[in-house]
Amino acid sequence: MPKFISASLLSANFLKLGKDIEMLNSHTDWFHIDVMDGVFVPNISYGFPVIRYIKQAAKNPLDVHLMIVDPDRYLEEAKNVGADIITVHYEACTHLHRTLSKIRSLGVKAGVALNPHTPVVLLEDIAEEIDLLLVMSVNPGFGGQKFIEHSYNKVRQAKELFSKKQPNALIEVDGGIGTQNAAKLYEAGADVLVSGASIFSSADSVETIALMKA
Ligand code: DX5
Ligand code: ZN
Repeated sequence: MPKFISASLLSANFLKLGKDIEMLNSHTDWFHIDVMDGVFVPNISYGFPVIRYIKQAAKNPLDVHLMIVDPDRYLEEAKNVGADIITVHYEACTHLHRTLSKIRSLGVKAGVALNPHTPVVLLEDIAEEIDLLLVMSVNPGFGGQKFIEHSYNKVRQAKELFSKKQPNALIEVDGGIGTQNAAKLYEAGADVLVSGASIFSSADSVETIALMKA
């Protein structure tokens, strides 16, 4: 399984986004794009017109994390602006099976995110439809928050469930990740680590990324 880093652009300086994307193109694996609606989470980030421009500069896949209510309304638009993976929240989908089928029918990988309080076992009957599981290791809404320690357990539980039901699915972890916990998360079974504040607040982002992967 891979050991990927998905760079969260939420903490980037948008005035020099092109330069940051250029650096990330050669040092990270995916771009993590956080879309927030101020309803599902208590914050608003950026939307599709911005993502369209990110796509023009990005050489790596766009990993789009929709922190919005009723995400079905925006799946096509997310695909049209360049999403390669679309992740919706378990807590925001009444008909998750239908939502995941729709994402896959667009030719995009389908991801499901779990808030810290949502147990992995709830995915038992839907695991086969999932290409990516996103374990939230902070309460979604903001960059730069403190990692929730219970997330290690959750990654192990996810690994166990998915190795039985859907071994090709990737397990991604999001929130509070840096050089202090990356190795332990990969060891627990994570394939992809999202990192924002740690990369962008580091004096040497390239070195921080290399240390996380090592
Ligand atoms: C939080 C977002 C994260 C966030 C991670 O709601 O989903 O992707 O940007 O950023 P850091 O690495 O700063 O916790
Ligand atoms: Zn995210």
